[in-house]
Amino acid sequence: MADFEIESDIRKARTLSSEFYTDERYFELSKEKIFVRSWQFIGTSHGVNNLKPVFMLEGFLNEPVLITGTNGRVACYSNVCTHRGKILVEKECKAGLIRCGYHGRRFSLEGKFLSMPEFEGVEDFPSEQDDLTRIRSAIWGKFLFASIDPIGAFTTFIPDAEVKLSRMHPEDLKLVSTRDYEVRAHWALYCENYLEGFHIPFVHHSLNAAIEYSTYTTDTFRYSILQTAFDSEKNIAAYYLFIFPNMMFNFYPWGVSVNIVKPITPDKTLVSFLTFVSDESKRETGAGSNLDKVEMEDEAVVESVQRGIHSRFYKPGRYSPSREQGTHHFHRLIAEFMG
Ligand code: FES
Ligand SMILES: [Fe+2]
Repeated sequence: MADFEIESDIRKARTLSSEFYTDERYFELSKEKIFVRSWQFIGTSHGVNNLKPVFMLEGFLNEPVLITGTNGRVACYSNVCTHRGKILVEKECKAGLIRCGYHGRRFSLEGKFLSMPEFEGVEDFPSEQDDLTRIRSAIWGKFLFASIDPIGAFTTFIPDAEVKLSRMHPEDLKLVSTRDYEVRAHWALYCENYLEGFHIPFVHHSLNAAIEYSTYTTDTFRYSILQTAFDSEKNIAAYYLFIFPNMMFNFYPWGVSVNIVKPITPDKTLVSFLTFVSDESKRETGAGSNLDKVEMEDEAVVESVQRGIHSRFYKPGRYSPSREQGTHHFHRLIAEFMG
């Protein structure tokens, strides 16, 4: 098994061993070691009207989660019946309690076991194990997150950047579109491309014209990375917030583009783009315009790396200390979680 240690001094460090991307065993291990221990975006808090089932990271973790919204309060529970394991709520609905469609076990909206037919005489029943497990959840602005077994509270995953970002008024946002991109590359290759602006002058010519590359900054936090792009008048053109391991929140003058990176196989990734707009009139200008073109340019380089990383001759590379702090920090987090 490879050793994923990454030196903390970027000037001495070497990039992640390519086995992390190429060996199926690490892809599987990353489920429990990285994704189960971190937070996942599961939708917006505003859309929850009573009972809403979701699968956490569908196609990868596939954890059935039930979001309940009662009296304006949102909570998450396991959506699996504690009797023989049927999914409890299959479709979004309104109800006063939860009743399993298999043998009629009933639960309260707080996940408490209520009743079960034909169970007279069963010993030590019901017990706490018959209740639905509560799943940790968190709300940030109108975004809703859940975690199976978090290494830390959600607040430790969003940095001091939150203060800066609150200026962007996330509460006025309206979801106007969603779109999925299929990328033929490992999920981490997609993320690490996002985490450096180094490639902008080489890969994104129109984006490069909209920002002032020399003033681009990267701040690393415990479990997140914030990149800031300025325009030629020194106004903020974009904040690019990455929350480990797979969530991107891109703040533009018109609103927020949320990108969720969903691993499918070691060489296939789905990236969901959710576009939340607060000021439609600013949509066609600056770093936040033409995002589809930028995405195509990124996909082309990431897919090329996917092919290159399999080379027998490729060995871990080095980092630019001034331009690749984000990618270095991301690799260090992967090494830490993979332990
Ligand atoms: S599986 Fe739910 S009541 Fe039997
Ligand atoms: Fe890019």
